[in-house]
Amino acid sequence: MIIVMDFGGQYAHLIARRIRSLGVYAEIAMPATRKEEIEKLNPAGIILSGGPRSVYGEDSLAIDKEILKLGIPVLGICYGHQLLAHLLGGKVAPSSKEYGKEMLSPKKSLLFNGLGKKEHVWASHGDSVLNPPEGFETIGSTEECRIAAFADDKRKIYGVQFHPEVVHTTNGMQILRNFVKICGSKKDYAIRGLDRKLIAEIKAAVGEEAVIMGVSGGVDSLVASALIRKATPNIHCVFVDHGLTRKGEAEEVVSLYKKLKFEHFYRIDASKLFLRKLKGVSEPEEKRKIIGKTFIDVFESQVQQLKKKNRITFLGQGTIYPDRIESAKASGQAAVIKTHHNVGGLPEKMKLKLIEPLKELYKDEVRQLGRQLGIEKELLMRHPFPGPGLAVRILGKITPQKIAMLREADSIFTEELKKSGYYEKTWQAFAALLPGKAVGVMGDARAYGRIIALRAVTSQDAMTADWAKLPNELLERTSSRITKRIKGVTRVVYDITQKPPATIEYE
Ligand code: XMP
Repeated sequence: MIIVMDFGGQYAHLIARRIRSLGVYAEIAMPATRKEEIEKLNPAGIILSGGPRSVYGEDSLAIDKEILKLGIPVLGICYGHQLLAHLLGGKVAPSSKEYGKEMLSPKKSLLFNGLGKKEHVWASHGDSVLNPPEGFETIGSTEECRIAAFADDKRKIYGVQFHPEVVHTTNGMQILRNFVKICGSKKDYAIRGLDRKLIAEIKAAVGEEAVIMGVSGGVDSLVASALIRKATPNIHCVFVDHGLTRKGEAEEVVSLYKKLKFEHFYRIDASKLFLRKLKGVSEPEEKRKIIGKTFIDVFESQVQQLKKKNRITFLGQGTIYPDRIESAKASGQAAVIKTHHNVGGLPEKMKLKLIEPLKELYKDEVRQLGRQLGIEKELLMRHPFPGPGLAVRILGKITPQKIAMLREADSIFTEELKKSGYYEKTWQAFAALLPGKAVGVMGDARAYGRIIALRAVTSQDAMTADWAKLPNELLERTSSRITKRIKGVTRVVYDITQKPPATIEYE
Protein backbone atom coordinates (compact mmCIF):
# COMPACT_ATOMS: atom_id res chain seq x y z
CA MET A 1 0.00 0.00 0.00
CA ILE A 2 0.88 3.63 -0.29
CA ILE A 3 0.45 6.02 2.60
CA VAL A 4 -0.77 9.56 2.03
CA MET A 5 0.22 11.92 4.81
CA ASP A 6 -2.55 14.46 5.21
CA PHE A 7 -1.35 18.04 5.66
CA GLY A 8 -4.85 19.43 5.79
CA GLY A 9 -5.50 20.37 2.19
CA GLN A 10 -8.52 19.15 0.30
CA TYR A 11 -6.18 16.99 -1.68
CA ALA A 12 -5.12 14.07 0.52
CA HIS A 13 -8.32 12.07 -0.12
CA LEU A 14 -8.15 12.87 -3.80
CA ILE A 15 -4.57 11.55 -3.96
CA ALA A 16 -5.60 8.35 -2.16
CA ARG A 17 -8.53 7.83 -4.52
CA ARG A 18 -6.31 8.34 -7.56
CA ILE A 19 -3.75 5.81 -6.27
CA ARG A 20 -6.53 3.30 -5.58
CA SER A 21 -7.83 3.81 -9.12
CA LEU A 22 -4.37 2.70 -10.30
CA GLY A 23 -4.95 -0.60 -8.51
CA VAL A 24 -2.86 0.13 -5.42
CA TYR A 25 -4.41 0.38 -1.98
CA ALA A 26 -3.86 3.80 -0.35
CA GLU A 27 -4.51 4.98 3.17
CA ILE A 28 -4.43 8.37 4.86
CA ALA A 29 -2.11 8.93 7.82
CA MET A 30 -1.66 11.93 10.07
CA PRO A 31 1.66 13.81 9.94
CA ALA A 32 2.33 12.93 13.59
CA THR A 33 2.71 9.23 12.67
CA ARG A 34 6.09 8.05 14.02
CA LYS A 35 8.73 6.11 12.13
CA GLU A 36 7.99 2.96 14.17
CA GLU A 37 4.32 3.01 13.15
CA ILE A 38 5.25 3.51 9.51
CA GLU A 39 7.61 0.55 9.73
CA LYS A 40 4.77 -1.56 11.09
CA LEU A 41 2.49 -0.52 8.23
CA ASN A 42 5.29 -1.36 5.82
CA PRO A 43 4.12 0.81 2.89
CA ALA A 44 5.65 0.59 -0.57
CA GLY A 45 5.63 4.37 -0.80
CA ILE A 46 4.69 7.56 1.01
CA ILE A 47 3.08 10.67 -0.46
CA LEU A 48 3.13 13.94 1.45
CA SER A 49 0.02 15.90 0.47
CA GLY A 50 -0.47 19.59 -0.06
CA GLY A 51 -1.89 21.82 2.64
CA PRO A 52 -2.63 25.44 3.44
CA ARG A 53 0.31 26.03 5.78
CA SER A 54 3.83 27.37 5.37
CA VAL A 55 6.83 25.39 6.61
CA TYR A 56 7.86 28.54 8.49
CA GLY A 57 4.42 29.25 9.96
CA GLU A 58 3.63 28.90 13.66
CA ASP A 59 1.13 26.17 12.78
CA SER A 60 3.50 24.32 10.43
CA LEU A 61 3.27 20.54 10.39
CA ALA A 62 6.23 18.26 9.86
CA ILE A 63 6.84 14.53 9.77
CA ASP A 64 9.19 12.37 11.78
CA LYS A 65 12.40 13.03 9.82
CA GLU A 66 13.58 9.47 10.47
CA ILE A 67 10.88 8.27 8.05
CA LEU A 68 12.96 9.70 5.21
CA LYS A 69 15.80 7.34 6.14
CA LEU A 70 13.75 4.14 5.82
CA GLY A 71 14.52 3.71 2.13
CA ILE A 72 10.79 3.95 1.28
CA PRO A 73 10.13 6.05 -1.87
CA VAL A 74 8.60 9.44 -1.02
CA LEU A 75 6.73 11.94 -3.18
CA GLY A 76 6.05 15.40 -1.77
CA ILE A 77 3.29 17.44 -3.39
CA CYS A 78 3.05 21.24 -2.94
CA TYR A 79 3.41 21.66 0.84
CA GLY A 80 4.94 18.16 0.87
CA HIS A 81 7.49 19.30 -1.71
CA GLN A 82 8.40 22.34 0.38
CA LEU A 83 8.56 20.25 3.53
CA LEU A 84 11.03 17.83 1.93
CA ALA A 85 13.22 20.75 0.91
CA HIS A 86 12.99 22.24 4.40
CA LEU A 87 13.73 18.99 6.25
CA LEU A 88 16.58 17.92 4.01
CA GLY A 89 18.50 21.19 4.05
CA GLY A 90 17.13 23.08 1.03
CA LYS A 91 15.68 26.59 1.08
CA VAL A 92 12.01 27.58 0.99
CA ALA A 93 10.69 31.13 0.68
CA PRO A 94 7.29 32.83 0.42
CA SER A 95 6.11 33.59 -3.09
CA SER A 96 3.34 35.86 -4.21
CA LYS A 97 2.34 33.81 -7.25
CA GLU A 98 -1.21 33.29 -8.34
CA TYR A 99 -3.06 29.98 -8.24
CA GLY A 100 -3.61 28.27 -11.51
CA LYS A 101 -2.43 26.65 -14.67
CA GLU A 102 1.24 26.72 -15.58
CA MET A 103 3.42 25.17 -18.25
CA LEU A 104 6.00 22.73 -16.97
CA SER A 105 9.19 21.84 -18.83
CA PRO A 106 10.01 18.41 -17.46
CA LYS A 107 13.49 16.92 -17.64
CA LYS A 108 14.29 13.26 -18.10
CA SER A 109 13.45 11.49 -14.86
CA LEU A 110 11.83 8.29 -13.61
CA LEU A 111 9.00 10.40 -12.20
CA PHE A 112 8.33 12.10 -15.54
CA ASN A 113 8.58 9.07 -17.80
CA GLY A 114 6.23 9.36 -20.76
CA LEU A 115 5.64 13.14 -20.42
CA GLY A 116 5.97 15.58 -23.32
CA LYS A 117 8.38 18.50 -23.64
CA LYS A 118 5.75 20.85 -22.22
CA GLU A 119 2.98 19.86 -19.83
CA HIS A 120 0.03 21.75 -18.35
CA VAL A 121 0.16 21.56 -14.57
CA TRP A 122 -1.97 23.14 -11.88
CA ALA A 123 -0.29 24.80 -8.92
CA SER A 124 -1.63 26.45 -5.78
CA HIS A 125 1.32 28.45 -4.61
CA GLY A 126 2.09 29.41 -1.09
CA ASP A 127 5.81 29.14 -0.65
CA SER A 128 8.26 27.85 -3.20
CA VAL A 129 11.61 26.08 -3.10
CA LEU A 130 14.59 28.37 -3.73
CA ASN A 131 17.36 25.78 -3.40
CA PRO A 132 16.94 22.02 -3.55
CA PRO A 133 18.57 19.96 -0.81
CA GLU A 134 21.95 18.37 -1.43
CA GLY A 135 21.86 15.34 -3.67
CA PHE A 136 18.71 16.55 -5.45
CA GLU A 137 18.43 17.49 -9.07
CA THR A 138 15.88 19.94 -10.45
CA ILE A 139 13.73 17.96 -12.89
CA GLY A 140 11.18 20.56 -13.90
CA SER A 141 10.58 24.31 -14.03
CA THR A 142 7.73 26.59 -14.94
CA GLU A 143 7.85 30.29 -15.72
CA GLU A 144 6.58 31.04 -12.24
CA CYS A 145 8.71 28.55 -10.41
CA ARG A 146 12.29 27.55 -11.10
CA ILE A 147 12.30 24.45 -8.94
CA ALA A 148 8.85 23.08 -9.73
CA ALA A 149 10.10 19.52 -9.28
CA PHE A 150 13.17 17.84 -7.84
CA ALA A 151 14.42 14.28 -7.52
CA ASP A 152 16.99 12.16 -5.79
CA ASP A 153 16.77 8.94 -7.76
CA LYS A 154 19.22 7.21 -5.41
CA ARG A 155 17.09 7.74 -2.33
CA LYS A 156 13.89 7.66 -4.41
CA ILE A 157 12.69 10.95 -2.93
CA TYR A 158 10.75 13.31 -5.21
CA GLY A 159 8.96 16.61 -4.89
CA VAL A 160 6.58 18.54 -7.13
CA GLN A 161 5.31 22.05 -6.49
CA PHE A 162 2.14 21.42 -8.52
CA HIS A 163 -0.74 18.98 -8.02
CA PRO A 164 -0.58 15.81 -10.15
CA GLU A 165 -3.84 14.56 -8.61
CA VAL A 166 -6.11 17.27 -10.05
CA VAL A 167 -7.58 16.97 -13.53
CA HIS A 168 -6.13 20.33 -14.59
CA THR A 169 -2.69 18.72 -14.53
CA THR A 170 -3.20 17.01 -17.87
CA ASN A 171 -0.76 14.13 -17.38
CA GLY A 172 -0.95 14.01 -13.60
CA MET A 173 -2.07 10.40 -13.58
CA GLN A 174 1.02 9.44 -15.57
CA ILE A 175 3.19 11.03 -12.87
CA LEU A 176 1.35 9.10 -10.15
CA ARG A 177 1.61 5.92 -12.24
CA ASN A 178 5.38 6.49 -12.48
CA PHE A 179 5.61 6.95 -8.73
CA VAL A 180 3.67 3.73 -8.14
CA LYS A 181 6.15 1.99 -10.46
CA ILE A 182 9.10 3.49 -8.57
CA CYS A 183 7.53 2.07 -5.38
CA GLY A 184 7.22 -1.37 -6.99
CA SER A 185 3.66 -1.65 -5.62
CA LYS A 186 1.59 -4.66 -6.65
CA LYS A 187 -1.55 -3.62 -8.50
CA ASP A 188 -3.89 -5.89 -6.62
CA TYR A 189 -6.53 -3.51 -5.32
CA ALA A 190 -9.88 -3.58 -7.07
CA ILE A 191 -13.51 -3.04 -6.16
CA ARG A 192 -14.46 -5.84 -8.52
CA GLY A 193 -14.71 -8.98 -6.43
CA LEU A 194 -14.51 -7.03 -3.19
CA ASP A 195 -18.15 -7.89 -2.42
CA ARG A 196 -17.27 -11.59 -2.10
CA LYS A 197 -14.36 -10.84 0.22
CA LEU A 198 -16.41 -8.52 2.43
CA ILE A 199 -19.33 -10.93 2.60
CA ALA A 200 -16.97 -13.74 3.65
CA GLU A 201 -15.47 -11.49 6.33
CA ILE A 202 -18.90 -10.58 7.70
CA LYS A 203 -19.92 -14.26 7.74
CA ALA A 204 -16.80 -15.20 9.65
CA ALA A 205 -17.28 -12.38 12.18
CA VAL A 206 -21.01 -12.74 12.76
CA GLY A 207 -21.61 -16.50 12.56
CA GLU A 208 -25.05 -17.35 13.94
CA GLU A 209 -25.43 -14.14 15.90
CA ALA A 210 -27.79 -11.37 14.78
CA VAL A 211 -27.00 -7.85 13.59
CA ILE A 212 -29.08 -4.75 14.17
CA MET A 213 -28.78 -1.74 11.95
CA GLY A 214 -30.38 1.66 11.61
CA VAL A 215 -31.17 2.42 7.96
CA SER A 216 -32.39 5.54 6.19
CA GLY A 217 -32.49 4.69 2.50
CA GLY A 218 -29.21 6.62 2.09
CA VAL A 219 -26.48 5.08 -0.07
CA ASP A 220 -24.07 4.09 2.71
CA SER A 221 -26.53 2.35 5.01
CA LEU A 222 -28.19 0.76 1.99
CA VAL A 223 -25.01 -0.80 0.59
CA ALA A 224 -23.74 -1.81 4.04
CA SER A 225 -27.02 -3.51 4.95
CA ALA A 226 -27.22 -5.23 1.54
CA LEU A 227 -23.72 -6.65 2.08
CA ILE A 228 -24.58 -7.87 5.57
CA ARG A 229 -27.82 -9.39 4.27
CA LYS A 230 -25.81 -11.42 1.75
CA ALA A 231 -23.72 -12.73 4.62
CA THR A 232 -26.56 -13.54 6.99
CA PRO A 233 -30.37 -13.53 7.07
CA ASN A 234 -30.13 -12.47 10.72
CA ILE A 235 -29.98 -8.76 10.08
CA HIS A 236 -32.64 -6.60 11.67
CA CYS A 237 -33.03 -3.24 9.94
CA VAL A 238 -34.65 -0.44 11.85
CA PHE A 239 -35.90 2.58 9.96
CA VAL A 240 -36.76 5.32 12.41
CA ASP A 241 -39.19 7.48 10.46
CA HIS A 242 -38.90 10.89 12.05
CA GLY A 243 -41.46 12.37 9.70
CA LEU A 244 -38.88 14.79 8.33
CA THR A 245 -38.16 12.84 5.17
CA ARG A 246 -38.66 13.94 1.57
CA LYS A 247 -41.90 13.36 -0.32
CA GLY A 248 -42.67 9.66 -0.69
CA GLU A 249 -39.36 8.70 0.87
CA ALA A 250 -40.55 6.63 3.81
CA GLU A 251 -42.70 4.46 1.54
CA GLU A 252 -39.78 4.08 -0.88
CA VAL A 253 -37.48 2.85 1.89
CA VAL A 254 -40.05 0.26 2.97
CA SER A 255 -40.60 -1.09 -0.53
CA LEU A 256 -36.87 -1.07 -1.27
CA TYR A 257 -36.05 -3.34 1.67
CA LYS A 258 -38.92 -5.58 0.72
CA LYS A 259 -37.50 -5.88 -2.77
CA LEU A 260 -34.07 -6.67 -1.37
CA LYS A 261 -35.67 -9.53 0.59
CA PHE A 262 -34.91 -8.47 4.12
CA GLU A 263 -36.87 -10.72 6.45
CA HIS A 264 -36.54 -8.43 9.44
CA PHE A 265 -37.35 -4.84 8.60
CA TYR A 266 -39.09 -2.46 10.97
CA ARG A 267 -40.40 0.98 10.13
CA ILE A 268 -41.05 2.85 13.29
CA ASP A 269 -43.34 5.76 12.69
CA ALA A 270 -42.10 8.21 15.29
CA SER A 271 -43.17 11.34 13.43
CA LYS A 272 -45.61 12.47 16.12
CA LEU A 273 -43.03 12.04 18.85
CA PHE A 274 -40.41 14.05 16.91
CA LEU A 275 -42.92 16.81 16.16
CA ARG A 276 -43.90 17.00 19.81
CA LYS A 277 -40.28 17.21 20.95
CA LEU A 278 -39.49 19.86 18.36
CA LYS A 279 -42.54 21.99 19.09
CA GLY A 280 -41.63 25.64 19.45
CA VAL A 281 -37.89 25.03 18.98
CA SER A 282 -36.14 27.27 16.49
CA GLU A 283 -32.48 27.27 17.54
CA PRO A 284 -30.56 25.07 15.03
CA GLU A 285 -28.23 23.27 17.45
CA GLU A 286 -31.09 22.63 19.84
CA LYS A 287 -33.08 21.08 16.98
CA ARG A 288 -30.15 18.86 16.05
CA LYS A 289 -29.62 17.75 19.65
CA ILE A 290 -33.30 16.97 20.20
CA ILE A 291 -33.48 14.95 16.99
CA GLY A 292 -30.27 13.06 17.83
CA LYS A 293 -31.44 12.19 21.31
CA THR A 294 -34.96 11.22 20.27
CA PHE A 295 -33.53 9.08 17.49
CA ILE A 296 -31.28 7.21 19.90
CA ASP A 297 -34.15 6.71 22.38
CA VAL A 298 -36.45 5.25 19.72
CA PHE A 299 -33.71 3.09 18.25
CA GLU A 300 -32.61 1.82 21.63
CA SER A 301 -36.07 0.86 22.74
CA GLN A 302 -36.51 -1.12 19.51
CA VAL A 303 -33.19 -2.88 20.18
CA GLN A 304 -34.36 -3.82 23.67
CA GLN A 305 -37.58 -5.24 22.22
CA LEU A 306 -35.75 -7.26 19.60
CA LYS A 307 -33.14 -8.48 22.05
CA LYS A 308 -35.84 -10.33 23.97
CA LYS A 309 -36.27 -12.78 21.11
CA ASN A 310 -33.03 -12.57 19.14
CA ARG A 311 -29.36 -12.96 19.92
CA ILE A 312 -28.37 -9.52 18.77
CA THR A 313 -24.70 -8.89 19.41
CA PHE A 314 -23.67 -6.73 16.46
CA LEU A 315 -24.48 -3.21 15.37
CA GLY A 316 -24.09 -2.65 11.63
CA GLN A 317 -23.07 0.78 10.41
CA GLY A 318 -22.53 2.40 7.02
CA THR A 319 -19.42 4.33 8.09
CA ILE A 320 -17.19 5.08 5.11
CA TYR A 321 -13.50 5.93 5.00
CA PRO A 322 -13.70 9.75 4.98
CA ASP A 323 -16.14 9.64 7.97
CA ARG A 324 -13.51 7.88 10.04
CA ILE A 325 -10.70 10.17 9.01
CA GLU A 326 -12.80 13.29 9.52
CA SER A 327 -14.00 12.22 12.95
CA ALA A 328 -10.44 11.32 13.96
CA LYS A 329 -9.42 14.82 12.95
CA ALA A 330 -12.46 16.43 14.53
CA SER A 331 -11.65 14.85 17.85
CA GLY A 332 -8.35 16.76 17.57
CA GLN A 333 -8.63 20.41 16.71
CA ALA A 334 -11.54 21.15 14.39
CA ALA A 335 -14.33 23.37 15.68
CA VAL A 336 -17.83 21.91 15.80
CA ILE A 337 -19.75 23.75 13.11
CA LYS A 338 -22.79 21.52 13.32
CA THR A 339 -23.63 18.54 15.45
CA HIS A 340 -23.83 15.55 13.13
CA HIS A 341 -25.29 12.41 14.52
CA ASN A 342 -25.06 9.10 12.80
CA VAL A 343 -25.78 6.82 15.76
CA GLY A 344 -22.19 7.34 16.99
CA GLY A 345 -21.76 6.41 20.63
CA LEU A 346 -24.48 3.76 20.55
CA PRO A 347 -22.32 0.62 20.74
CA GLU A 348 -20.69 1.34 24.10
CA LYS A 349 -24.03 2.01 25.71
CA MET A 350 -25.75 -0.97 24.22
CA LYS A 351 -22.81 -3.35 24.51
CA LEU A 352 -22.90 -4.28 20.84
CA LYS A 353 -19.94 -5.10 18.66
CA LEU A 354 -19.52 -2.87 15.63
CA ILE A 355 -19.60 -4.15 12.11
CA GLU A 356 -18.67 -1.57 9.47
CA PRO A 357 -18.10 -3.28 6.11
CA LEU A 358 -17.51 -0.03 4.19
CA LYS A 359 -15.04 1.51 6.58
CA GLU A 360 -12.13 1.42 4.11
CA LEU A 361 -14.06 2.74 1.11
CA TYR A 362 -14.70 6.03 -0.61
CA LYS A 363 -18.19 7.04 -1.72
CA ASP A 364 -17.56 6.30 -5.39
CA GLU A 365 -16.26 2.87 -4.41
CA VAL A 366 -19.36 2.27 -2.27
CA ARG A 367 -21.49 3.09 -5.32
CA GLN A 368 -19.52 0.63 -7.47
CA LEU A 369 -19.91 -2.01 -4.81
CA GLY A 370 -23.65 -1.32 -4.71
CA ARG A 371 -23.84 -1.93 -8.45
CA GLN A 372 -22.10 -5.29 -7.97
CA LEU A 373 -24.72 -6.17 -5.40
CA GLY A 374 -27.41 -5.47 -7.98
CA ILE A 375 -28.72 -2.24 -6.47
CA GLU A 376 -30.28 0.14 -9.01
CA LYS A 377 -28.09 2.99 -10.20
CA GLU A 378 -30.76 5.57 -9.46
CA LEU A 379 -30.74 4.65 -5.78
CA LEU A 380 -26.96 4.76 -5.62
CA MET A 381 -26.74 8.16 -7.27
CA ARG A 382 -29.11 9.84 -4.81
CA HIS A 383 -27.99 13.10 -3.30
CA PRO A 384 -26.85 13.05 0.33
CA PHE A 385 -29.60 13.87 2.82
CA PRO A 386 -28.86 15.00 6.37
CA GLY A 387 -29.82 12.81 9.32
CA PRO A 388 -32.11 15.49 10.85
CA GLY A 389 -33.88 15.74 7.49
CA LEU A 390 -36.14 18.63 6.62
CA ALA A 391 -35.82 20.00 10.17
CA VAL A 392 -32.55 21.69 9.18
CA ARG A 393 -34.16 23.07 6.03
CA ILE A 394 -37.10 24.71 7.79
CA LEU A 395 -35.59 27.79 9.37
CA GLY A 396 -37.27 28.55 12.64
CA LYS A 397 -40.10 26.61 14.21
CA ILE A 398 -41.30 23.39 12.64
CA THR A 399 -44.98 22.72 11.99
CA PRO A 400 -46.76 19.99 9.97
CA GLN A 401 -47.92 22.65 7.48
CA LYS A 402 -44.37 23.83 6.88
CA ILE A 403 -43.15 20.26 6.40
CA ALA A 404 -45.89 19.62 3.83
CA MET A 405 -45.09 22.85 1.99
CA LEU A 406 -41.37 22.16 1.87
CA ARG A 407 -41.85 18.54 0.77
CA GLU A 408 -43.87 19.70 -2.20
CA ALA A 409 -41.40 22.42 -3.22
CA ASP A 410 -38.46 20.04 -2.85
CA SER A 411 -40.16 17.41 -4.96
CA ILE A 412 -40.91 19.91 -7.76
CA PHE A 413 -37.27 21.06 -7.79
CA THR A 414 -35.96 17.48 -7.84
CA GLU A 415 -38.35 16.57 -10.65
CA GLU A 416 -37.17 19.49 -12.76
CA LEU A 417 -33.51 18.68 -12.07
CA LYS A 418 -33.99 15.08 -13.12
CA LYS A 419 -35.92 16.03 -16.25
CA SER A 420 -33.18 18.39 -17.38
CA GLY A 421 -30.29 16.06 -16.56
CA TYR A 422 -28.96 18.40 -13.85
CA TYR A 423 -29.61 16.07 -10.91
CA GLU A 424 -26.53 14.02 -11.65
CA LYS A 425 -24.46 17.12 -12.36
CA THR A 426 -24.97 18.50 -8.87
CA TRP A 427 -23.66 17.18 -5.57
CA GLN A 428 -26.83 18.19 -3.77
CA ALA A 429 -29.91 20.21 -4.61
CA PHE A 430 -32.91 20.94 -2.44
CA ALA A 431 -35.48 23.46 -1.30
CA ALA A 432 -35.49 25.19 2.08
CA LEU A 433 -38.22 27.19 3.79
CA LEU A 434 -37.03 30.59 4.95
CA PRO A 435 -38.41 32.29 8.05
CA GLY A 436 -40.75 35.23 7.78
CA LYS A 437 -43.08 36.22 5.00
CA ALA A 438 -42.97 38.31 1.85
CA VAL A 439 -45.58 40.30 -0.03
CA GLY A 440 -46.75 39.17 -3.43
CA VAL A 441 -49.62 39.65 -5.82
CA MET A 442 -51.78 36.74 -6.78
CA GLY A 443 -54.89 37.01 -8.97
CA ASP A 444 -54.83 40.82 -8.69
CA ALA A 445 -54.91 40.65 -4.92
CA ARG A 446 -52.27 41.23 -2.34
CA ALA A 447 -50.73 38.05 -0.99
CA TYR A 448 -48.51 37.62 2.02
CA GLY A 449 -46.75 34.29 2.07
CA ARG A 450 -43.74 32.10 2.55
CA ILE A 451 -40.34 32.21 0.87
CA ILE A 452 -38.79 29.09 -0.62
CA ALA A 453 -35.02 29.06 -1.21
CA LEU A 454 -33.57 26.73 -3.81
CA ARG A 455 -30.04 25.53 -3.17
CA ALA A 456 -27.94 23.49 -5.57
CA VAL A 457 -24.22 22.94 -5.14
CA THR A 458 -21.33 21.23 -6.85
CA SER A 459 -18.71 19.63 -4.65
CA GLN A 460 -16.15 16.83 -4.43
CA ASP A 461 -16.65 15.87 -0.82
CA ALA A 462 -18.98 18.42 0.86
CA MET A 463 -16.01 20.03 2.63
CA THR A 464 -16.18 22.94 0.20
CA ALA A 465 -18.90 23.64 -2.33
CA ASP A 466 -19.76 26.03 -5.10
CA TRP A 467 -23.29 27.08 -6.02
CA ALA A 468 -24.41 25.33 -9.17
CA LYS A 469 -24.78 27.47 -12.27
CA LEU A 470 -28.17 26.03 -13.24
CA PRO A 471 -29.83 27.20 -16.47
CA ASN A 472 -32.20 30.14 -16.01
CA GLU A 473 -35.03 28.26 -17.73
CA LEU A 474 -34.77 25.43 -15.20
CA LEU A 475 -34.93 27.86 -12.29
CA GLU A 476 -37.78 29.77 -13.89
CA ARG A 477 -39.86 26.65 -14.48
CA THR A 478 -39.23 25.46 -10.93
CA SER A 479 -40.16 28.83 -9.44
CA SER A 480 -43.29 29.12 -11.49
CA ARG A 481 -44.46 25.59 -10.66
CA ILE A 482 -43.80 26.13 -6.94
CA THR A 483 -45.77 29.38 -6.69
CA LYS A 484 -48.61 27.98 -8.78
CA ARG A 485 -48.89 24.65 -7.01
CA ILE A 486 -48.16 25.50 -3.39
CA LYS A 487 -50.66 27.70 -1.70
CA GLY A 488 -49.05 30.18 0.63
CA VAL A 489 -45.72 30.54 -1.21
CA THR A 490 -45.28 33.99 -2.71
CA ARG A 491 -41.59 33.97 -3.49
CA VAL A 492 -38.79 31.69 -4.66
CA VAL A 493 -35.11 32.65 -4.37
CA TYR A 494 -31.90 30.95 -5.54
CA ASP A 495 -28.98 30.67 -3.13
CA ILE A 496 -25.67 31.83 -4.62
CA THR A 497 -23.33 31.33 -1.66
CA GLN A 498 -20.30 29.11 -1.66
CA LYS A 499 -19.12 26.96 1.23
CA PRO A 500 -17.30 28.52 2.95
CA PRO A 501 -18.56 31.03 4.03
CA ALA A 502 -21.99 29.33 4.03
CA THR A 503 -22.57 25.64 4.73
CA ILE A 504 -24.55 23.38 2.40
CA GLU A 505 -27.48 22.95 4.77
CA TYR A 506 -29.17 25.98 6.32
CA GLU A 507 -28.98 24.90 9.93
P1 XMP B 1 -22.91 21.21 5.78
O1 XMP B 1 -24.30 21.76 5.93
O2 XMP B 1 -22.19 21.05 7.08
O3 XMP B 1 -23.13 19.73 5.23
O4 XMP B 1 -22.12 21.95 4.74
C1 XMP B 1 -22.11 18.94 4.68
C2 XMP B 1 -22.74 17.64 4.19
O5 XMP B 1 -23.24 16.88 5.30
C3 XMP B 1 -24.63 16.67 5.20
N1 XMP B 1 -25.16 16.81 6.56
C4 XMP B 1 -25.42 15.74 7.36
N2 XMP B 1 -25.32 14.43 7.15
N3 XMP B 1 -26.11 14.00 9.34
C5 XMP B 1 -25.68 13.55 8.13
O6 XMP B 1 -25.60 12.35 7.92
C6 XMP B 1 -26.24 15.30 9.64
O7 XMP B 1 -26.63 15.68 10.72
C7 XMP B 1 -25.88 16.23 8.58
N4 XMP B 1 -25.89 17.59 8.49
C8 XMP B 1 -25.43 17.91 7.25
C9 XMP B 1 -25.12 17.75 4.26
O8 XMP B 1 -26.33 17.39 3.64
C10 XMP B 1 -23.96 17.85 3.30
O9 XMP B 1 -23.98 16.81 2.35
